[in-house]
Amino acid sequence: MSTLKTTAQLFALRTLVRGYALLGDPYAGVLASPPDRDPYAMYEKVRAKGDMVRSRMGAYVTTSRAICDSVLRDNRFITATFDEASMVPVTLVKNGEKIVNPVQDSFLMKNPPDHTRLRKLVQPFFTPRALKDRTASIQKIVNDHLDRLGDRFDLVGEFASQVPIQVIADLLGVPDEDRAIFARWGSSLADTLDGVWSHKQLKDLHATIVEYNDFIDVLIEERRRNPEDDIVSHLVAQHEDLSREDLVATTGLLLFAGFETTVNLISNGVLQAFENPHTVLPLAQSPEYAEGFVEEVLRLDPPVQYTIRWPKERLELAGVSLPKGTPVMLVLAGANRDPRVFKDPAKFDPTRSNAREHLAFSAGIHYCIGAGLSRIEGAIALHELFKRFPNLAQDGPVARRRSKLIRGALRLPVRANETKRSLAVKPS
Ligand code: HEM
Repeated sequence: MSTLKTTAQLFALRTLVRGYALLGDPYAGVLASPPDRDPYAMYEKVRAKGDMVRSRMGAYVTTSRAICDSVLRDNRFITATFDEASMVPVTLVKNGEKIVNPVQDSFLMKNPPDHTRLRKLVQPFFTPRALKDRTASIQKIVNDHLDRLGDRFDLVGEFASQVPIQVIADLLGVPDEDRAIFARWGSSLADTLDGVWSHKQLKDLHATIVEYNDFIDVLIEERRRNPEDDIVSHLVAQHEDLSREDLVATTGLLLFAGFETTVNLISNGVLQAFENPHTVLPLAQSPEYAEGFVEEVLRLDPPVQYTIRWPKERLELAGVSLPKGTPVMLVLAGANRDPRVFKDPAKFDPTRSNAREHLAFSAGIHYCIGAGLSRIEGAIALHELFKRFPNLAQDGPVARRRSKLIRGALRLPVRANETKRSLAVKPS
């Protein structure tokens, strides 16, 4: 196995980024701030400098909701693979054959016409009608997992990750016994989405990608022989001209995007409930309140914090002339707190009327295909969790993910019966 970019080159780049971050550079700061640093305070510092803040590394950073939205919808901007952006050395070769990276080689990182062709293949599984048909099974999955919990548990490992893993595995057609390994693969991929920081991390990433390729090859072959009513069977049967790379990457993107983000939506939601105890009873009592609650979590503490786009030609943006290929970092989590759009933006208010104007799911052609699914999962999971355990309380320090791109908890110890809170009491 070999990498196409050397480890030494990468670590040199990481050191440079860390150095710029220490000097207060906005782009490097978002990429490389220490794990315990509050990202939102940093985004506010960027906002105070203006709508388009230039980094010494040649990039621009914006926390303006209007600019983020317009760039995401502007076809003069493209996405680039991590390799082009020099962020992660994930192009692997094994026995002379390319190992497909489920993120880098997927349609998330592609531009039209390839992006359009591949996205269209899986779109039918995410229509409102298709999601409606899934709702009862999501409800069952949530309740089954709640049934297994004791008085003390890790909210992330035993609940928040289990529900989305099962939902997406069912959708793709992954057998029950193969699910256990997903959490480890997902963490390994998610932690490296914004860069590789150690040799161990690099080795883990390589192992994950290789293991995933082996796993998905077997599943594809199995579904080719014994098709069922799932996405992998559909792709294999309907699209014989689909290359192995496209098949492996599309399936992998759905698998990892499908649970690594929703896990964090649920854990970020639980943390908001702990910080805002007056929301717990209405959350437990009302599925409609739970929907608004989820929308506000997505706005205030979104699982995906930023994305990057590159202009494919020289152009003007908000009064700034951008040469072709200049990275523009769109801080979605900052845009979601733009005071020109959201009143009292740092306040958690599940009844906020315009919360849905957040950009947590991006916008334009790469708008999250799973937005509807994760909204349903998040609302059912949080509503049922607090309905079952209205006295749920934190039972130890939260361990946060290392990634700056993906925000959420890695571990969150909780107790089901800390204090007595009655569901009969009306919310204040
Ligand atoms: C709370 C949960 C989720 C969040 C916050 C989230 C966020 C995002 C964001 C921000 C993007 C666009 C990135 C960009 O523009 O560069 C995206 C794309 C995507 N998401 Fe999600 N996502 C979530 C759940 C899901 C789920 C459940 C699935 C699948 C079942 C999914 C599948 C995808 C796919 C396939 C794309 C690529 C779309 C494209 O490039 O056309 N996501 N997601």
